[in-house]
Amino acid sequence: MKLLIDNANLGEIKRIYEFYPIDGVTCNPTILRKEGKNPYKLLKAIRAFIGEDAQLHVQVIGMDAITMIEEGHQIQKELGANTYIKIPVTPEGLKAIKHLASEGANVTGTAVYNQMQGFLAGKAGAKYVAPYVNRIDNLGYDGITVAKQIHDMLKQANLETNILAASFKNSFQVLDLCEYGVGAATVAPDVIDGFIKSDVITSAVDAFTKDFEALCGEDTNMLTIANS
Ligand code: G3P
Repeated sequence: MKLLIDNANLGEIKRIYEFYPIDGVTCNPTILRKEGKNPYKLLKAIRAFIGEDAQLHVQVIGMDAITMIEEGHQIQKELGANTYIKIPVTPEGLKAIKHLASEGANVTGTAVYNQMQGFLAGKAGAKYVAPYVNRIDNLGYDGITVAKQIHDMLKQANLETNILAASFKNSFQVLDLCEYGVGAATVAPDVIDGFIKSDVITSAVDAFTKDFEALCGEDTNMLTIANS
């Protein structure tokens, strides 16, 4: 499963990239608003940091297909071909997805709240479809199940579209879909931090360090004791 960062704060992106194996960055207009910067300036800085090979998913704003298609062209021009144009899966969005996909563009169908929405985006040619797991849960449905069912429907139809699961509030939601084999998940930095944050892990590592120092002396390690 590819793991992307759902955030546009360059400092946070750099921090997460330093420690975790990350495949790219996604954002949406709400995420961009939080940064309060010119979107293209910020996205170009993110692109420069993550490199041309990493995925960058950027959403269109227009409500009609023609505007979405023109925005898609501009997004690719500014940020490179490995940028995924995020298009909400509405009727106008599906029209734009069909058009951009026929040109060979990378498209991600977003704002996916139900199974048929995801399936139709795949049929229209999207490379990814993004079910909003936690938001679906908050509607009283099961976001994980919806994501899994879209995954299955896409596979059964022999479509190459993958799931890019989004809107996570906890590690377990991500773990469940990772285990199921979905193509990708985009996760906020605080939830990524939670993947391996545990008192049990910290105390196990502390105990190893203390035992080694009891054996070899304070502030020693396998480098400092060489040739001693
Ligand atoms: O980018 C779409 C998705 O990640 C939204 O997440 O946390 O606003 O539900 P959230």
